[in-house]
Amino acid sequence: MEDRKSWDIKDEAILDDLVALMGLTDDEKKAMAACQDGAAAGGEAMIDAFYERLLAQDVTSEFLEGMVDHLRTTLEAWFIALFSGDYGSDYVKSRLAIGETHVRIGLPVRYPLAMMDILIEHGERIAGAQGEIGQKAFRKLAALDIAIFNQAYENKQLAHLSELVGNERLARRLLQK
Ligand code: HEM
Repeated sequence: MEDRKSWDIKDEAILDDLVALMGLTDDEKKAMAACQDGAAAGGEAMIDAFYERLLAQDVTSEFLEGMVDHLRTTLEAWFIALFSGDYGSDYVKSRLAIGETHVRIGLPVRYPLAMMDILIEHGERIAGAQGEIGQKAFRKLAALDIAIFNQAYENKQLAHLSELVGNERLARRLLQK
């Protein structure tokens, strides 16, 4: 089987690749930016629901001991940045770095991914102030975040496996098995 074009897309280029795939338009970016005050005002309800769920189960709460106050602040900044309207390379780098933080603490990827419904419920309500275009834009940005989060995990697995077997191409082949 041939190598795939997507195998050569790395780091910030991943954003260009995904933005192109999703067709995020300038009007959609503007609609997101127009909701930034709404995100600042409505973020707390999202954050409350987020930590209420994570603290309710041992498997997730054990990662959070003594950190919740700090993490509420970082999650708020993350949520507001989602509405920045500017999704250039700084954006994707910072989102990838956040994903990497979760890789480093040994958090299984299913937990962050399983939190996205809370983000989507609150984010869509806030973006709804801009009507359908806002909601559509928000769904794209949420999907983008899910993709980037996942990418951080895949990058790490691929990097380790590549080191082990000597090259990335072989590592990708092994991951297909
Ligand atoms: C949608 C899902 C999630 C988002 C958007 C998110 C967002 C963030 C952000 C923005 C940071 C700060 C990163 C930094 O400063 O480098 C962070 C750190 C952290 N998150 Fe999450 N998070 C998510 C899911 C989770 C889950 C499910 C857990 C645990 C069950 C968790 C536990 C942590 C911990 C422990 C840190 C601090 C790590 C450290 O600095 O050592 N996160 N998260």
